[in-house]
Amino acid sequence: MKESILIKGVRFLDGRVSYVLTKNGAERKIEGEGWLAVPGFIDLHTHIREQGIGTETLQTATSAAKAGGFTTLCMMPNTVPPIDSVQRLRELKQKIIERALVSVLPIPSIAIGMGDSELADIEGFAKEGVFAISDDGHTIYNLSLLREACLEAKRLGLLVILHAEEDGKEPEAIEKRIELAYQTGVRLHIAHISTKDGVGLVREAKKSRIDVTCEATPHHFTLTENDIRDTNFKVNPRLKSYKDREAIREGLADGTIDIIATDHAPHTKEAKECGWNVAAPGMVGLETCLGLVWTELVHKGILREKEAIEKLVTNPAKMIGSKVDETNLILIDPEKEWIVNPLDFKSEGKNTPFSGRRLKGMVVYCCSIA
Ligand code: DOR
Repeated sequence: MKESILIKGVRFLDGRVSYVLTKNGAERKIEGEGWLAVPGFIDLHTHIREQGIGTETLQTATSAAKAGGFTTLCMMPNTVPPIDSVQRLRELKQKIIERALVSVLPIPSIAIGMGDSELADIEGFAKEGVFAISDDGHTIYNLSLLREACLEAKRLGLLVILHAEEDGKEPEAIEKRIELAYQTGVRLHIAHISTKDGVGLVREAKKSRIDVTCEATPHHFTLTENDIRDTNFKVNPRLKSYKDREAIREGLADGTIDIIATDHAPHTKEAKECGWNVAAPGMVGLETCLGLVWTELVHKGILREKEAIEKLVTNPAKMIGSKVDETNLILIDPEKEWIVNPLDFKSEGKNTPFSGRRLKGMVVYCCSIA
């Protein structure tokens, strides 16, 4: 039976004050005084392992998504084996239909084997209805292959999501990829930007009307390299300086950085509890994202509530080519204080650098129609 819930006193960004989730009579009432009702978040950058490296399945990742207020996850291709063929994409789509609790949009790999030498069947992916292709998890260094991918994506109307971590030289890598976007006219999205120079390059490219967007992660706008205490802080791209973190905050405030994406990357205890050099890079992020956005950006006056929602919903919706879905509703208590405890996570991955951190702002309800 469909549950009916009357929520009283919530705020909408457009000013309405109460909302009935379903129309067949209210059975449950929630006092939502001071809460904010917004459409579910869209994460453009999620590693749902499902199989292979790390831990996590479609079920655990999508229940983590619901807990964190995400009703759409864009799934990166670096699974084992990777999403690099139409056959694998079709198999995955079937699993998503059977198992996912929120909407999951697979982003296939640009190259076969997540490699650097042979393009995957990009036209075949487009026919399967994907909105983007990516080199995620493995930066492609071969620029002629990237150019071919950009031309193909432009022809097919796909977004190209690129890593720019060449030998740790992010600004040079971003510059080369922006040049490719300029030459090919493709829509380019730079994943998890982490340096002041990188933000500056994207700002200039936008002024020159090049079709480029970029994202920042909660860990890169919150932490610096001085915060590193253990391998839960090991991530790609690595945490940078205070100056870089401030530039990311400025980029978010002035619109250079279009969206906030989690780069949710679950890993097993064994993969993390070892020496720094051998530990797997990556941290989970779905269940701490909203708390960090509100604590670090909204409550500190860097973003207004409306701007935060643009970066979590409206702008990513434009990138995936979809309208904001008002039926996927979430409720936020912006004043709720809580302490991060990874044991409470729905995600199988407990690898967070924010364990024990006090946050202000919490998702209190998520209604997702997957
Ligand atoms: O730290 C990271 N881990 N960065 C990525 O881009 C990939 C991710 C993973 O898949 O573990």
